[in-house]
Amino acid sequence: MEGSEKLLEELSNALGPSGFENSVREIVKREFVSLGCEVEIDGLGSVVGRLPGTYDYPRVMLAAHMDEVGLIVKYITEQGYVKFETLGGWLDQALINQRWLIMTKIGPVLGVTGIKTPHVINAESKSKVFAKTDMFLDVGACDRQDAMENLGILPGDPIAPQSTFSKFGTGDVYLGKAWDDRAGIWVMLEVLKHLSKAGINNLYGVATVQEEVGLRGAGTSGTLVNPQIGINIESGVAGDYPGITMDEAQERVGAGPGLFLHDSSMLPNLKLRDFVVRTAEELQIPLQFNVLSGYGQDGAAIQKTGTGVPVVNITIPTRYLHSHNSVISGYDLDLAVQLVTRLVQKLDAATVGEIITF
Ligand code: CO
Repeated sequence: MEGSEKLLEELSNALGPSGFENSVREIVKREFVSLGCEVEIDGLGSVVGRLPGTYDYPRVMLAAHMDEVGLIVKYITEQGYVKFETLGGWLDQALINQRWLIMTKIGPVLGVTGIKTPHVINAESKSKVFAKTDMFLDVGACDRQDAMENLGILPGDPIAPQSTFSKFGTGDVYLGKAWDDRAGIWVMLEVLKHLSKAGINNLYGVATVQEEVGLRGAGTSGTLVNPQIGINIESGVAGDYPGITMDEAQERVGAGPGLFLHDSSMLPNLKLRDFVVRTAEELQIPLQFNVLSGYGQDGAAIQKTGTGVPVVNITIPTRYLHSHNSVISGYDLDLAVQLVTRLVQKLDAATVGEIITF
């Protein structure tokens, strides 16, 4: 991979469930400042970085979300176990017997979602999925008072998956949590890095909050930026492992960035789609397409800002989204950076004027 692997690792390991993105926000702010961006934070906590430039370009918003799927403390049982609610979409079976970090006001507290031992489960129950409503976190406390007073756990505390970044396989494949959407944050920052000396005025990098709970930060930050074109950078759904079919997902890891043509939240502007396809062809970048219905993304909120904005969703193909361990490829990351960088360079007044005209 050409870009900063260290930054990728830092972003993946940072704890930031929806609504509690602070540690990711600090990384993004630091990177924006080091690139010379003007930095603004909206009322929900999304970070907007604008590169200073002398060439007046249309307002282009590059967006990616900082939050990851997580949990939140509901209450603590008398015995000191933590009951929780989910933040974002989880499969119940992805929650069980995993390590988690409860982000208390005195620091992170390790917990594990306990699972009944097979020795006590009858044959019929062995094939059943454990429902999340029956689950709890064991934090090693002896009772409620111990959990609250000594460990500092309070109802409403956010809970992040615990999983650390690893290089994977023989090539540049990465295993970690939160690629959805720290991979997008990384691409957005690398694009700004590439363009930091280009002098393009009105290019906004936006790291949004609360995507996983309903695209909340993209709406407020979109209002702040008021873009003429939006490019959302997201995790795509890879369909390249046993048991998943082309009908379910069409992207493959390591086969180039993806372009969404349909999801349950947004349809892309076709002129903008064609512009992306043409640009990828010029750069000889393989581009994958995805048409999915069980998927939504921030582009949907950005396209509804003001009187409506053409937006595309460009993706990094990802395996095992919304779990402790997801897989992406450095090859796809680098090509996404090249593609988005070139798209921005080409989005001058004439090109944008053409795209926004019906
Ligand atoms: Co996402």
